[in-house]
Amino acid sequence: MLKRAQDKGIIDVVLTNIRDFAKDSYRKVDDKPYGGGPGMVMMPGPVFDCFEFVQKLSPEKGRVILLTPQGQKFTQAKAAELSRENRLILITGKYEGFDERIRIKLGAEQISIGDYVLTGGELAAMVIIDAVVRLLPGALGDENSSMDESFSSGLLEYPQYTRPEVFREMKVPDILLSGDHAKIAQWRHQQALEKTKKYRPDLLQKVGENTNIEEGD
Ligand code: 6GU
Repeated sequence: MLKRAQDKGIIDVVLTNIRDFAKDSYRKVDDKPYGGGPGMVMMPGPVFDCFEFVQKLSPEKGRVILLTPQGQKFTQAKAAELSRENRLILITGKYEGFDERIRIKLGAEQISIGDYVLTGGELAAMVIIDAVVRLLPGALGDENSSMDESFSSGLLEYPQYTRPEVFREMKVPDILLSGDHAKIAQWRHQQALEKTKKYRPDLLQKVGENTNIEEGD
């Protein structure tokens, strides 16, 4: 998907290694934290030099995002918001974090992809890129496929079936073969509600706060 989006000219992805901006022959970009404690902290010098180099690659200023477990949780709503930007600059480092002066000086917002700890922000950046790029017009090929899914509605997706009609004695629900589109839509919505209630009741709470969906029984 990403490769196709790049080939079509929908996006341009540039990867720059902070270590290329290190000042010593070991290419050191992190150091021990002042005040003691475990782990290493990303040094401000190489991060700033790298950032300034990257920013100059385009006249577009770009929205600056620091990937860290201390950030705000990444959601579908955030993906949609970021997909409306012309340029994103994602900065990643090792987990223990960035020297605080980096965040302050860059005015960067901080994003985390979930409540667990990764060894670095690189995978988080890839997750964000994937979720954002697939929302760009033309990136998926099928324009509708990014709309009808989990989380846009605030619910889990309804169950899907494809051929064959009977597989190991399990039959596709009759309603899906009925051709009655209104009934099918109604059934799917009910199924989505039930699945969400069972597996992600936390989502249902949010839907209830934002809309007035009938919960049924
Ligand atoms: Cl953005 N970075 C790291 N290191 N761990 C994470 C994360 C980011 N989001 C969730 N866990």
